Amino acid sequence: MSDQAFPDYRLFGRRQDRPLKARQRRLMQDLLPKVAITKDEIDQAAYKARPIWLEIGFGGGEHLAWHAARNPDVLMIGAEPFINGVAKLLAAIDEQKLDNVRILHGDARDLLLHFPAGSVERLFVLHPDPWPKKKHHKRRIVSPLLLKEAARILRSDAEMRVASDIPDYIRWTLMHLQMHNKNSEDFYWSARRKTDWADAPEDWPQTRYEAKAIREGRVPTYLSFRRLP
Ligand SMILES: C[S@@+](CC[C@H](N)C(=O)[O-])C[C@H]1O[C@@H](n2cnc3c(N)ncnc32)[C@H](O)[C@@H]1O
Repeated sequence: MSDQAFPDYRLFGRRQDRPLKARQRRLMQDLLPKVAITKDEIDQAAYKARPIWLEIGFGGGEHLAWHAARNPDVLMIGAEPFINGVAKLLAAIDEQKLDNVRILHGDARDLLLHFPAGSVERLFVLHPDPWPKKKHHKRRIVSPLLLKEAARILRSDAEMRVASDIPDYIRWTLMHLQMHNKNSEDFYWSARRKTDWADAPEDWPQTRYEAKAIREGRVPTYLSFRRLP
């Protein structure tokens, strides 16, 4: 448990777009309570038994479900306030009978502070909301406090992956990483050549969000950092 507190600005856009279909409503009512994770559960011993991968803002859950299906020994935890996204992930859990997914339907910040130090093996922050206007930059999830918490919860050599199709967000992330490292050298960016950040990693399922961004002419960048011991 961290002794930090995140500022309480809202960091996400809509909580819902289309009304849920009957099946989605049923899944929200019946399945969500079974897979929901609470802050108090996070440090229970059961979770320490297998590696934890955490995804902040899983959108439609395609990336999270893809990894859960291929990594049954990993506990995939995802946080997402967008109801339609949560309903989509629940459908994937139901259809693929995934038993290694836990969901926080809400703001990831509520969860982050409760992870024990060194308890997370991989952290994904994929295409975070860009908040393009300067006056909204304080709402960007990548922030000094997020990096501080990421450094705390990631175990040695863990991976933190950040992707964005917004060049300014990539610059923002690298700048904050550099600033963080000046105070405490926690992260290592191993990219040496363009393909290291321009090509999607091998274990990268494209989400609907990313496919749309590419269709619209935006170019994703993939940053992968290691937690230094
Ligand atoms: C642009 S979408 C990308 C979705 C997904 N990661 C992808 O790549 O397809 C960003 C998502 O982050 C979510 N989000 C924003 N702030 C969040 C927060 N504080 N905690 C959890 N999710 C958040 C939004 O609701 C939205 O679904």
